[in-house]
Amino acid sequence: MQYMFTMPTLAQFGRGLSRQLAPILQENGIKRVFVVSDQGVKKAGLLDGPLKSMQAAGMELDIFDQIRANAPAPQIAEVSAQAHSFNPDAIVSIGGGSCIDSGKAVNILLANPAPISRYDGVNLVKNPGRLHIAVPTTAGTSSEMTVVAVISDEKNAKKMVLFGKNISASIALIDPELTYNLPAHITAATGMDALTHAIEAYVSTASSPLTDSIAPQAVSLIAGNLLSAYKDGNTEARDKIMLGCMLAGVCFSNAGLGLVHSLAQPMGGHCHVPHGLANAICIARVMAYSMPAVPEHKINVIASALGLADKVKNSSSAAQEICAALEELTRLLHIPTISQAGVDRNKISAMSADALKEISTPTTPRMPTLEEVEALYEDLFAQKERDLSLLRQPGEAAGLASRVRKH
Ligand SMILES: [Fe+2]
Repeated sequence: MQYMFTMPTLAQFGRGLSRQLAPILQENGIKRVFVVSDQGVKKAGLLDGPLKSMQAAGMELDIFDQIRANAPAPQIAEVSAQAHSFNPDAIVSIGGGSCIDSGKAVNILLANPAPISRYDGVNLVKNPGRLHIAVPTTAGTSSEMTVVAVISDEKNAKKMVLFGKNISASIALIDPELTYNLPAHITAATGMDALTHAIEAYVSTASSPLTDSIAPQAVSLIAGNLLSAYKDGNTEARDKIMLGCMLAGVCFSNAGLGLVHSLAQPMGGHCHVPHGLANAICIARVMAYSMPAVPEHKINVIASALGLADKVKNSSSAAQEICAALEELTRLLHIPTISQAGVDRNKISAMSADALKEISTPTTPRMPTLEEVEALYEDLFAQKERDLSLLRQPGEAAGLASRVRKH
C-alpha cells in the first residue's frame, strides 16, 4: 500500500484571529497587498477591520471587491491585469470559496502565463506565486485549506478544476467569528458542501489511513451542529462547523471527492446553481446510489459519526439510515429541489456527459454508466417540491431565488 498526504497551507484557527492579519503580513515583510473580495463581504462589514489594520500598519493596498459568484474566467483575467500593474508582495483573499479561488487564480497568473484555462487539470502550475493569505467568511468550500481552485468557464458551460502544486494559499487565517452573521440559507448550503466533502473524502477510492482518521470527526462536527447554526446562529455550533470544514478540506484535498460533486458541478456550469446548494440537492440520492460499493466498516463509521449507531442493525440498514438522515437534514435545512433551484430538465443529457468527465468521478466508490447518471438526475427531478415559505427569516426564499437566477 502506498499513500501520499500533503498540507502545504499553514493553518491558523481561532476566534478573533482575523485581527492578526496585519501583524502576520508585517512578520513576512509585506508592504504591498492586493486584496480580493466581493460586495457581499464588503456589505457585511467584514472588509473594514482588515483594511483599516493593514492601512494603519503602513501597507499600500490595491483592492478588487467585485468578485462574482463561481469566479468566471474573464473576470480572473481582468483582476490579474489589475494585480500585475500593482505588483503586490502578497495577495489577501477575504470571502467565500469564489473569492479565495479567485485569489489563488490571480496568484497563479502573477507567476505563470495566462490564460487561467491552461491550468485546468492536475499539477499544471509550474511556478509558485507570492504570499497568499486566505481569510474565509463562510464554512463550506474549505478553499483556504485545499490545493484546488474552481473557476467558471461560462463559454463552455463548465467549471474548470485546477488541482495540485502551486495553487494553495500560503496561510489560512480561519476565524469562526467571521461566520457569525452568515444568513441562514447560506449557512445551510455551505454547511452541506462541507459535509459532502467529509463523506466523499472518507468513501473515496483514494482515501488513506490519514484522511480516514480525520474525516469521521469532520462528519460528526458538521452534521452534529448544522441545524443549530442554521436555526438560531448558535456561535458554539458555528465554531464547530468551521473546525469540521477545515478538517474536511484537509481530507478532500488529499483523498479527492466523488459522484455528488460530479453531479453538482454541471448544475453550476449549465444552470448557475451555487456550488454548496447543488451538493445539498444531490447528496442523499447520490450517496444512496454509491453505498453498495462502500466497505461495510466505513458505512458503520459514517452512521456513528451521524449519531445513528442506536438505529443501526446491520450494514445495509446503516446505509439506509445514513441516506434517510441526509434526506431529512436536507429537508430541515429547507434546501430546494433541483427544479426549484432552476435547473433545466432539458440539460440532463449534457450535464450527465459532463458529470462523467468531472475530476471527482475517478475516485467515486461506485462508477456509474451514462444511463445511471441520467437516472440519478431524473430521480432528483422526481422529488416533491419543498415548501420554501418555511425558511426561517423573512426574505430568505426570495434571496435564495435571486441568487439562483443571478449566478
Ligand atoms: Fe464542494
